[in-house]
Amino acid sequence: MQNTARLSAPFLALALSAATAVHAQPEGHALYDTFCAACHGANLEGAPDWQRPGPDGLLPAPPHDETGHTWHHGDRFLFDYVARGGQAVLDDLGVNFTSAMPAFGDVLQDAELEAILDFIRQSWPEHIRAIQAARSAQDGAS
Ligand code: HEC
Repeated sequence: MQNTARLSAPFLALALSAATAVHAQPEGHALYDTFCAACHGANLEGAPDWQRPGPDGLLPAPPHDETGHTWHHGDRFLFDYVARGGQAVLDDLGVNFTSAMPAFGDVLQDAELEAILDFIRQSWPEHIRAIQAARSAQDGAS
């Protein structure tokens, strides 16, 4: 009886922490596929002809890979952009631009948004990640 107790306690702790880890780390790639890929491309490549306004006069979704400019922004800006949507952020910045980037703050939890951004960051080559990390640190300090 005593032996069983000694064996099962660590096992239980392990099982519990595994369950917590799964819950705390939503799968960024799967979430990206569901919520972002339709506009930004299954391979982060962006919409075709993304640099030219579409028939509605709005710019299509840019790539999130290294050919786009997502990595030019720090983490805080990226999170805000996805949570509040492009229009709210650009209005706050006084940028006169009509954005077709929706807000996801009411649809996804913060941890899910972070997981998606993590997935995007992990797709970048090392030197791009370093530049973006430096930008994030700079933004955090100001
Ligand atoms: C309905 C189409 C659509 C969906 C769905 C969409 N986006 Fe966008 N997104 C856009 C468009 C269009 C832009 C470009 C306009 C702008 O920057 O405001 C954009 C811009 C962005 C930018 C700014 C990029 C930059 O270089 O400045 C980020 C970051 C972004 N989207 C992330 C996401 C993420 C993450 C998701 C999924 C949770 C997502 N988007 C889903 C259309 C979409």
